[in-house]
Amino acid sequence: MASNEDLFKKIISHAKEYGFVFPSSEIYDGLSAVYDYGPFGVELKNNIREYWWRTMTQYHENIVGLDASIFMHPAVWKASGHVDAFSDPMIDNKDSKKRYRADVLIEDHIQKIEDKIIKEVEKARTRFGGSFDEKMYRETNPRVKEHQEKIDAIKHRFYPALERNDLEDVRNLIGELGIVCPVSGTKNWTEVRQFNLMFSTQMGSVNEDASSIYLRPETAQGIFVNFLNVQKSARMKIPFGIAQTGKAFRNEIVARQFLFRMREFEQMEMQYFVKPGEELKWYEFWKTERMKWHLSLGIPASKYRFHDHDKLAHYANAAADIEFEFPIGFKELEGIHSRTDFDLSAHQAHSGRKLQYFDTETSESYVPYVVETSIGLDRTFLAVLSHAYREEKLQDGSERIVLGIPAKLAPIKLAVLPLVKKDGLPEKAREIMDVVKYGFRCFYEEKDTIGRRYRRMDAIGTPYCITIDHQTLQDNTVTIRDRDTMLQDRISIPEIPSLVREKIG
Ligand code: GAP
Repeated sequence: MASNEDLFKKIISHAKEYGFVFPSSEIYDGLSAVYDYGPFGVELKNNIREYWWRTMTQYHENIVGLDASIFMHPAVWKASGHVDAFSDPMIDNKDSKKRYRADVLIEDHIQKIEDKIIKEVEKARTRFGGSFDEKMYRETNPRVKEHQEKIDAIKHRFYPALERNDLEDVRNLIGELGIVCPVSGTKNWTEVRQFNLMFSTQMGSVNEDASSIYLRPETAQGIFVNFLNVQKSARMKIPFGIAQTGKAFRNEIVARQFLFRMREFEQMEMQYFVKPGEELKWYEFWKTERMKWHLSLGIPASKYRFHDHDKLAHYANAAADIEFEFPIGFKELEGIHSRTDFDLSAHQAHSGRKLQYFDTETSESYVPYVVETSIGLDRTFLAVLSHAYREEKLQDGSERIVLGIPAKLAPIKLAVLPLVKKDGLPEKAREIMDVVKYGFRCFYEEKDTIGRRYRRMDAIGTPYCITIDHQTLQDNTVTIRDRDTMLQDRISIPEIPSLVREKIG
């Protein structure tokens, strides 16, 4: 059994070998934390985006779409707080020369203590069986209490220090907790410094007129500044949502976990505008709704968990992450945030334009509150890919690598394979291909033995292969092979589209 780190490496190299993800500008040795999607990767990514778009907009009558520009007026980022506060506290280890987010080092330390508590609780659960009362155990067991007190003490000091931007105290805390660099194993740390994550560039010619603008670090602000345009043009009534997908850019400090933390990535965000006072109800609604969406992908519930934020950003009154168990551990996949009226009010104040909703039923005007759902497309891609990757030993002793991608997301739905490259079989297969390719993404291949072609299709996650053999020419039937069971059935050619569509539905 490969370790998680080995598994992660295997997934990365599989993604490259089979045309899912390539390092950017690879012939120049790549560009750190930037990736390109290959022929099968782009299909998978499009399918995930399309599924999100359809479920968020088409299935919710009160959510409409938007496609705002990446470049925005620089004042947007001043108003949103990104110019002043979109930064991470960073610290370097002088021996390994590696750079870390200081807050992540401390969060990881807390997580390790948390894991000890979980271990104790699970041991006790096994010991006491059905009569186990977890709440009581956590409150009374001396070891668990001791761990919990440690966590509380760290949080009590750490969060206010971050809030005050007291970087010296954050640095001292790292020292006092004895946190070592995972690479060098030493405590030889630099000071902690704030590092703004926005990329900037020049707009206009390179003279006095040129002004500095930013590449957006989130898509959400494009939604906020268009709030009234959308509400009025689409005649939306509160509560309603605006959905958007698109690129975002962050000059991440720690960017070395493949698609997990990239410098150019894609977000799928939805801002839900609600009446002030109703935001927490909608926040709960969207937490449930988004978790249902993840489960509808066909990945087991045990791979997901909620992480409610203890420390809230100054504009939020509730926030949670949906975490996924990547090979690198449980990590954030999506954020659900109750952002109050912070953004709209800030844009109202900075632009001098009213951003209020007029409620025709009560004849009152107000700045709506916002509940946001924000998910990374690349992280979802990584979640699907890493869950799908399987190495299997088959009954005949051979091995195969298969991507068990949920059929509805699979890059290729159906492979059309003539058994041999003669006897009129390719011509018959082409005839079939020319019909089925208009219904869903198909792939035609005649090179190599049929066994090898099946393996290649397994490795890119194609759920079904049909094989055209000599019997096909006599009775118009083909074999259809299931990727997961590898079982084959014989079906008639006209049945193919509806059968595949039913399976990928
Ligand atoms: N508008 C809210 C917002 O941007 P966020 O938690 O910073 O919130 C939302 O980002 C999601 O975007 C994350 O849950 C993650 O899936 C994705 N994301 C953020 N930074 C990323 C990065 N550097 N690389 C890949 N995905 C990222």
